[in-house]
Amino acid sequence: MPSETHFRKPTSPVNATQLIARKRDGHVLTDDEIAWLINEYVAERVPDYQMAAFAMAVYFQGMTTEETLALTRSMLHSGVVLNWETDKPKVDKHSTGGIGDKISLILAPLLACCDVQVPMISGRGLGPTGGTLDKLEAVPGFRPDLSTGEFQRVCDDVGCVISGATADLVPADRKLYALRDVTATVSCIPLITASIMSKKLAEGLDALVLDVKHGSGAFMKTTEEARRLALSLVAVGSRLGVTTTAVMTDKNQPLGRMIGNSLEVDESIDVLCGTGPTDVRELTRALCAEVLVSAGRTESIDEAERVLDGHLNSGRATEKFREMIAAQGGDLDEKRPLAPITDVASRREGVIQSFDCESLGYAVIELGGGRKVQTDKIDHSVGIEMLVRIGDEVEADQPLARMFAKLRGREVAREMIERAIVIGDESVEPPTLIGERIT
Ligand code: URA
Repeated sequence: MPSETHFRKPTSPVNATQLIARKRDGHVLTDDEIAWLINEYVAERVPDYQMAAFAMAVYFQGMTTEETLALTRSMLHSGVVLNWETDKPKVDKHSTGGIGDKISLILAPLLACCDVQVPMISGRGLGPTGGTLDKLEAVPGFRPDLSTGEFQRVCDDVGCVISGATADLVPADRKLYALRDVTATVSCIPLITASIMSKKLAEGLDALVLDVKHGSGAFMKTTEEARRLALSLVAVGSRLGVTTTAVMTDKNQPLGRMIGNSLEVDESIDVLCGTGPTDVRELTRALCAEVLVSAGRTESIDEAERVLDGHLNSGRATEKFREMIAAQGGDLDEKRPLAPITDVASRREGVIQSFDCESLGYAVIELGGGRKVQTDKIDHSVGIEMLVRIGDEVEADQPLARMFAKLRGREVAREMIERAIVIGDESVEPPTLIGERIT
């Protein structure tokens, strides 16, 4: 459980303007100053424009680890922190997001087979990246909006649950994230760290594994940036009493073959049944194994992987997924519609050099599989199946991808997909998916 021993309600009166000026001028803020600011912001006594100025000051000046810790702790305690009655370790994963990333759908039920509980609070699509809740809503009847009580009940009964954040969890992040989104202050490591870790720690976890991606489909484009983020996340998680490890992963190509909501549910079920694409299976096993060792459920990564393979190959993981979906109102047996298929063929022969993963994500949005504005309704039946990977040799006219598309956006999406798949004459080494571990 996250330690609460360091958290003190702020007592010292502080002036927001002076505090912002101190940060702007590069001073290190105290725990009390940061706690005061977050408290006053959530109570609406510090207005958005002052908080926006503070976020920009942090963007340019950065924060020390101590400041980031104080910010995370204050945001965490701006709402409820879940308490659990059972002794089973509570574990979870966070991914910095990528195109075709459906790992959460597989990881939660797979871990729940291993005598741990997975209280996973998830989100919706952000920019070109699909959201776990949007994917699960492709299952007829599935409810991604459980109350805190329902969330805890499903987790206790089934062993895993995936739902959206309730209003009482980390209100500071909800307000601050919306503000950062429109003030160009999202890509700032201390602010990202506090945002991600406050939400994960509010789940009342014992162990957490982070999938920190780098590459064209990721938030952090370079390995160096991704490493700095991973170190910051691991430092804060560990200092707040949660065994936290990170795995750095390549995101220069989509994960698995499928991009799009129904398609990704289907591919997740394939992996849960012991089949499906190798990269999705390998990454899921690696992340699950990491967190099982952190939670003390297995002695080694090798032992964890043997246990996980047993659950994937025996059908137990699929049964657990079915159980979780049913507990949240969904029916896996009801047909999930898929739009008609149109091939996207290669215009030339050559070798696949790279993908512009973000454009593939935007192509799915163009087809209606994601949102351009908050109020857009998602068409779960559309998406893309990728038929090639980096380093593959292709012929002219060979299908590179299959669009599951209706008329809406089909021709625009086709052009986007064609442009996103870069073909050249050089032979290329496929990138390594799983890189450095940070503990
Ligand atoms: N995801 C989050 O939850 N917060 C951030 O700041 C960035 C990504």
